[in-house]
Amino acid sequence: MSAPSRVILITGGAGFIGSHLTRLFVTRHPHYKIVNLDNLTYAGNLENLKDIEGSPNYTFVKGDITDMAMVRSLFETHHFDGVLHCAAESHVDRSITDPLAFVRTNVLGTVSMLQVAKDAWKDHYEGKLFYHISTDEVYGSLGETGFFTETTPYDPRSPYSASKASSDHFVRAFHHTYQLPVIVSNCSNNYGPFHFPEKLIPLCIYNIIHQKPLPIYGQGLNVRDWLFVEDHVNAIDLIFHKGKPGDTYNIGGHNEWKNIDIIRELCRQMDAKLGRAPGTSEKLITFVKDRAGHDLRYAIDATKLTRELGWKPSLQFEEGLSRTIDWYLSNEQWLSEVTSGNYRTYYEKQYGH
Ligand code: NAD
Ligand code: TYD
Repeated sequence: MSAPSRVILITGGAGFIGSHLTRLFVTRHPHYKIVNLDNLTYAGNLENLKDIEGSPNYTFVKGDITDMAMVRSLFETHHFDGVLHCAAESHVDRSITDPLAFVRTNVLGTVSMLQVAKDAWKDHYEGKLFYHISTDEVYGSLGETGFFTETTPYDPRSPYSASKASSDHFVRAFHHTYQLPVIVSNCSNNYGPFHFPEKLIPLCIYNIIHQKPLPIYGQGLNVRDWLFVEDHVNAIDLIFHKGKPGDTYNIGGHNEWKNIDIIRELCRQMDAKLGRAPGTSEKLITFVKDRAGHDLRYAIDATKLTRELGWKPSLQFEEGLSRTIDWYLSNEQWLSEVTSGNYRTYYEKQYGH
């Protein structure tokens, strides 16, 4: 390609949100060079990026964000002017069994990335931006009413949200202390294609296909605010280009659902799509032991993003869910590679080492 107008490092680009973000940047901004740094944990899957892996403005690098020497040499080679920092351990249940893995990647990894960006940019911050992708879970748990705004005090309650909260604080501390140009966005629960099937929606889609039990924690009354992943990455693109350095933006679709109601809606749509009698899949619903410290309700107020940058979600939930189910039904091979673990050999097959 001719000289790129911007060179951007995306971390965690082989994961769920990262792969949508990478695809969007590679295809919507052909004059940018995009480098995807991912160490391919269980959640990283290069098959998510098969359609763009040959693009002239895209490069994949296998590596760990905590490896400062390697990240420094990447900065020296590519002269990044933007970082979209997505890499993280992201599953609450895993954080309950192994909190240190979350401290390592989410806290140490983020501080390492900040330090390297700061050193590489050497106080010449014109045109530079470190964009940190975060979650609404840092704000804690709501009761029946109210919403999280950008000024809601942090109150993380799981090891996952505590590690993300810590990383958000470090990002802001680098801005305050060293004037590093940063943006943080905190988004609600995402759903859509390429979602790893240990999270609620893809797990239940898989189990409905295979007529296995649908495990609902507690009584299924916990509420999450769901956003289609493409709406999230469109918001990130907008904020990256038009947002104000130093600011925080909440992203969410005003789309609250109790877990049990989502699963009922999934069952209803999938019975229709699979030609099963209405009510067939609901019989698979199984109430299981609740998650330890299970947050009751998350709900985002994204007014600032709409008011300042004109962002709005594009899809109604029922439509987004229908598109998601259709994607899983027509990508059963992706699903079986992931559930069998075969996807982990893709890197060796594709890159040969
Ligand atoms: P994911 O678990 O699907 O993907 C994470 C990616 O990071 C994987 O490709 C993994 O291989 C990579 N990774 C992990 N540790 C790494 C390391 N040490 N070095 C390099 N790469 C590493 O996560 P996701 O759901 O796509 O979430 C992406 C980001 O968005 C996270 O920061 C998460 O906190 C945030 N977020 C997620 C949601 C959601 O609903 N999934 C909502 C809001 C915010
Ligand atoms: P999850 O997809 O893990 O996202 P998060 O914990 O980040 O919100 O879970 C979404 C909701 O679904 C959460 O309230 C926990 C619940 N849940 C179940 O009831 N059963 C399951 O098997 C899983 C994975 C989640």
